Amino acid sequence: MAAARPMRLDRAILWLVLAAPLALQTWRFAIEKTYYGEYLHWSGQWGARLLLATLAVSALRRFLPRAGVSRWLLRRRRDLGLITFTYAAAHIVAYLWRKMDWSLIVREAQDAGLAIGWLAGAILIALALTSNDTSVRRMGRRWRALHKSVYVAGILTFAHWILTAFDPAAGWLHAVVLIALLLLRLAPQRAASGRIAG
Ligand code: HEM
Repeated sequence: MAAARPMRLDRAILWLVLAAPLALQTWRFAIEKTYYGEYLHWSGQWGARLLLATLAVSALRRFLPRAGVSRWLLRRRRDLGLITFTYAAAHIVAYLWRKMDWSLIVREAQDAGLAIGWLAGAILIALALTSNDTSVRRMGRRWRALHKSVYVAGILTFAHWILTAFDPAAGWLHAVVLIALLLLRLAPQRAASGRIAG
């Protein structure tokens, strides 16, 4: 059996910096220093922002393929995706915990804003479950196709934000960044010799 590889320092620091605020907020929520609505908004908004950051890595790779930061972010893109999922999962678990009634959850899921949230959540779960080397090997081409659905998850997440938030202005503002990233994704590929695969 292959020995487990030690976690690289940069990876550990990335997780510490990005996951520590979630751990702190979750602790405050558990001891009732942060209220449900506050926690739901906070975890949802940061989950959505981290999703944007994860999508931005592909744009950076395309337009600054040789930059050290692009190469580093590309190596850490899987971690960024998993951290994004952790925020989304905290958001969903807080909602389920609060409702604690399946018939109510199913009834609320019929509202367009929440139904879209569930679709985004389902895609993020599928992506998180297959974000490992074994899935990449086993799924082959299907893995790439599945992971392209991160853009669909992004669109659904922002539709969910705009439809459910009391004040959707912040959702619209962030949606502009998502639209820019989608346009960059669709822009014709430059034949850059220093392009990094992935
Ligand atoms: C899986 C099912 C999901 C459920 C049941 C759910 C539930 C909710 C609820 C109840 C709200 C609060 C609306 C209000 O203010 O009253 C909300 C808002 C929000 N959710 Fe979700 N959500 C889900 C998935 C997601 C996902 C995957 C994300 C992306 C990371 C996300 C991001 C957000 C954002 C950004 C807001 C707006 C926060 C604000 O009010 O400023 N949600 N969600």
